[in-house]
Amino acid sequence: MKVLVIGGGGREHALAWKLAQSPRLQAVYVAPGNGGTALDPRLENIPLTDVVALRKWAQQEKIVLTVVGPEAPLAAGVVDEFRAHGLRIFGPTRAAAQLESSKAFSKAFMKRHGIPTAQYETFSDSAAAHAYVERMGAPIVVKADGLAAGKGVVVAMTAQEAHEAIDFMLLDNKLGVSHNEGGARVVIEEVLTGEEASFIVLCDGRNVTALATSQDHKRLLDGDLGPNTGGMGAYSPAPVVTPEIHARAMREVILPTVRGMESDGIPYTGFLYAGLMIDPQGGIKTLEFNCRMGDPETQPIMMRLKTELFDVMMAATGGTLDKVELEWDRRTALGVVMAAHGYPLNPRKGDAITGLPRETEDTMVFHAGTVQREGIILSSGGRVLCVTALADSVKAAQQRAYEVADQVRLDGAQFRRDIGHRALRGQA
Ligand code: AMP
Ligand code: GLY
Repeated sequence: MKVLVIGGGGREHALAWKLAQSPRLQAVYVAPGNGGTALDPRLENIPLTDVVALRKWAQQEKIVLTVVGPEAPLAAGVVDEFRAHGLRIFGPTRAAAQLESSKAFSKAFMKRHGIPTAQYETFSDSAAAHAYVERMGAPIVVKADGLAAGKGVVVAMTAQEAHEAIDFMLLDNKLGVSHNEGGARVVIEEVLTGEEASFIVLCDGRNVTALATSQDHKRLLDGDLGPNTGGMGAYSPAPVVTPEIHARAMREVILPTVRGMESDGIPYTGFLYAGLMIDPQGGIKTLEFNCRMGDPETQPIMMRLKTELFDVMMAATGGTLDKVELEWDRRTALGVVMAAHGYPLNPRKGDAITGLPRETEDTMVFHAGTVQREGIILSSGGRVLCVTALADSVKAAQQRAYEVADQVRLDGAQFRRDIGHRALRGQA
């Protein structure tokens, strides 16, 4: 049996690495993959990204299961394309992926179904958007409606910043947002405070299974300072998600979302990621939905998963998730992202990476923005590696991950020194 993972980041390396642990699989392909998936003898890169080309290749190779990593192919309809040709694939349809690909869609959906989220308004007219900011004042959050590779959200501390963000998103489009049908729109919403957590589940259209909890570090610099990024490190489990918060998140956010999608005629299949803001009283609001796993959350989560991912994915694509019990390593997994010089604005590419250690029972370096050229690994993107370690405590996992990260040589590498600090504070 042969399987395919679509994507080429750290998340996809982790998914493919986990799938390859199933002895029944004859081949695990990654399209397009990266330097890390090229190095692993159990994985094979396929240089395809076009949705129709992927579908034709999967038919020809008799791929039994495809797992989609990133949002772009989902928003481009890869699941619809594969299913229309009888191929088994895990992910949401294009319509369901709007939970992520359109902030206007997801906010209206949450309002309609009573799912807790920040108060907001949607605008396509910039004068009306500016007037709203004048009325509400700062701080305030401005979000582009379309996919923006993590760059479509501005938490504006001043009205001036909010006005600039509106002009960027509606007029200039300097953020590289791909606008949805109907043209450029922004969502403007109230600022929420509290602690963020990543709540990720699997859905087969009806049944829902939660993955282990996790928490990401969105800001570039130690102490949660500096610009927002795609994520500079993550760990699992996340102590902020207590059993009570877990139950509330399922009851107030996840289940109403899955039922709401079903009753709206757009049943949800795939990974569903709710970005939650948890306030000090234990109240929960939904910051956003992603229709995929988190990156880098996937890396520590996959390090902890003991159940065969292939079996889980087969159940999730067969409508039998209720028959699956996930088993987790009790240890903490913690991943530190090594990013390129200049990330996030202007990451430098083409730096040689040396000192990459071999995988061990408790450490693994997942690749993201890397390529293999003539046996050498070069950086090729903003987030380059995610050094991940398992240990009995957050502190020990942190120490182990940094020991490994310190062996890796990447010129100009940026990485935080405090991944896991919130969990450590909780344990102190
Ligand atoms: P989103 O893509 O909507 O999750 O936004 C990216 C990041 O911006 C989130 O992880 C938060 O850190 C921040 N953010 C988004 N919406 C809000 C909000 N309403 N209040 C405070 N921070 C927010
Ligand atoms: N780590 C956040 C995300 O994947 O969106």
